[in-house]
Amino acid sequence: MSFVHETVLRDEVVQLLMPVPGKRLVDATLGGGGHAEALLAAGAQVIGVDRDPAAIAAALARLAGSERFSSLEGRAGDLESLLGAAGLLPVDGLLLDLGVSSPQLDTPGRGFSFQAEGPLDMRMSRTGETAAELIARLSEFELAAVLRELGEEPFARPIARALKQDLPTTTLAAVESVKRAVPRKAWPSRVHVATRTFQALRIAVNDELGELAAGLAAAERVLVEGGRLVVVTFHSLEDRIVKAFLAERAGRTPGGSRHLPPGAPPAASSFRLLANGARAASAEEAAVNPRARSAKLRAAVRTSAPAWKAAA
Ligand SMILES: C[S@@+](CC[C@H](N)C(=O)[O-])C[C@H]1O[C@@H](n2cnc3c(N)ncnc32)[C@H](O)[C@@H]1O
Repeated sequence: MSFVHETVLRDEVVQLLMPVPGKRLVDATLGGGGHAEALLAAGAQVIGVDRDPAAIAAALARLAGSERFSSLEGRAGDLESLLGAAGLLPVDGLLLDLGVSSPQLDTPGRGFSFQAEGPLDMRMSRTGETAAELIARLSEFELAAVLRELGEEPFARPIARALKQDLPTTTLAAVESVKRAVPRKAWPSRVHVATRTFQALRIAVNDELGELAAGLAAAERVLVEGGRLVVVTFHSLEDRIVKAFLAERAGRTPGGSRHLPPGAPPAASSFRLLANGARAASAEEAAVNPRARSAKLRAAVRTSAPAWKAAA
């Protein structure tokens, strides 16, 4: 199957990462390699990281012609050790373009889609617990909390009950459980009734929020002074984490950091924001790529090492 993913905010990402010859940039969510290709075209060295072996294989096929491209299979949260083991530290720029790629969503066998029958899998890396196994392991109460917190699903409790009764092992069986649990008149008009449930299960299976937090923390350790971090998110749960991290590290959190011991002197900031708010895709891009409509981009520059870190 061909691996086609419509790259979001390509020009904005390239402009922010300043991919001139001699710069070493990391695309930690390589996917179809769209951003990586544009960064390579501008002359930079690019290291592509993805936890999905299928994404790595597709990007290698697309980008292998460039001697400035190399790839590493692994998680963004493990970036420091991945790059360190490959002798590729430090780096001049880091991109996180979060979420799933179109090929992941559109391949029924991956189990991400509520529109096509497949195993209820949803694992980006194809390792660890599947969505079906997660449902079987969690209690009804725990599953409802996942659906509420990660899917913002108002019918979390009845859906969790139905999923625990049915223990679905396929995508369409899970959709049937959701449909039975939500009263017909409460089905949302703009999105599929199972959208929130599938989002929540996907985020939980891949620990996407934990990975994001670990990836941001890694950015602080792998970037050179003056290095740039660019993050593209696709829902508010992710954007909230990025916004809070950058506000704190840019010294904009009143009352200092909760990560510092009480009474510790305020840390010097470790990032400077490149813009105050989040950037969105242009109307032209949103018109041709529906996925771009929910995209938010935040960017920052690594400043000198914070005082508390230098002293450690
Ligand atoms: C939206 S796609 C990236 C698309 C890419 N920027 C392009 O233009 O083709 C996200 C990719 O990141 C990968 N991914 C998501 N979270 C990850 C993580 N924590 N570590 C490594 N890869 C991750 C997914 O497997 C997927 O291939």
